[in-house]
Amino acid sequence: MSVTVRVPAKVNVRLAVGAARPDGFHDLANVFLAVGLHDEITVTPADELRVTCSGPDADQVPLDATNLAARAALALARRHGIDPRVHIHIAKDIPVAGGMAGGSADGAGALLACDTLWSLGSSQDELLAICAELGSDVPFSLLGGAALGTGRGEQLTPLEVGGAFHWVFAVADGGLSTPAVYREFDRLTDGTDIPVPAADAALLDALRTGDAVALAGALANDLQPAALSLRPSLADTLAAGTAAGALAALVSGSGPTTAFLAKDPEAAAEIAEALLASGTCRTARVASAPAEGATVVQHTTAVRH
Ligand code: C5P
Repeated sequence: MSVTVRVPAKVNVRLAVGAARPDGFHDLANVFLAVGLHDEITVTPADELRVTCSGPDADQVPLDATNLAARAALALARRHGIDPRVHIHIAKDIPVAGGMAGGSADGAGALLACDTLWSLGSSQDELLAICAELGSDVPFSLLGGAALGTGRGEQLTPLEVGGAFHWVFAVADGGLSTPAVYREFDRLTDGTDIPVPAADAALLDALRTGDAVALAGALANDLQPAALSLRPSLADTLAAGTAAGALAALVSGSGPTTAFLAKDPEAAAEIAEALLASGTCRTARVASAPAEGATVVQHTTAVRH
């Protein structure tokens, strides 16, 4: 008996960051777009909670109780008064600690997979509430598509997307810690007047009409100066993708993955090739958006003989 759930990565097409709140988090206007790079989470009944991971960067994924997939299984089990006796396997394809919500994807995926395995039938709202406890980006991993995240990013309003967008993601060597990037944001903005974060109509229109050129003109990430300050070499990657014909280039979330919007799939393939040849990144991946949220792709039940 097992359940497999597929979960997408995300890019932030607008990450507007406000001042630090008393609880240490920052108020955001965070426009998420789910992209077609996926992790697959498979859960199987076991004697105790156990997490394993496969994929090229599997050695960088913590397999202890800090793993968001393990925390998701524990949170769901606790809520229903059951034992989380499950083996969670993560087939990882989303860059690790890359600013693409890979850990959040695993949390959302494990939650839906366990809910299905344990036949709990939770509503989407119930699952979203647990996701919000697990982390700011986890609710969006469950939902997918496109959404505006307010609060610390966990309060979602789904957005309409009128067409496919073609992206290239340049994966850097090593990750960046999200708290460290936010701390650098605080340092760089210390003493300045930080506006209340908001998403503008031009960006939402570009998504709604599926207009890549308009979206390129509206992309913005307030964490980008902080990520570049901690990892100055990312400027070379951004320049290489722009020189290769990207409509726009930006750091994905807290980085260090960089994202390039292309006018069509052919241009995306050329940009990916140029990025690889530039030697400014470890690898380059092509993906289109929007992608659907966490989805059960396989559910096998035990057969009695
Ligand atoms: O919510 P999550 O656990 O993913 O957040 C990781 C870290 O990122 C937080 O501990 C905080 O340092 C930072 N963060 C923030 N403001 C947000 C979201 C995250 O400062 N809105």
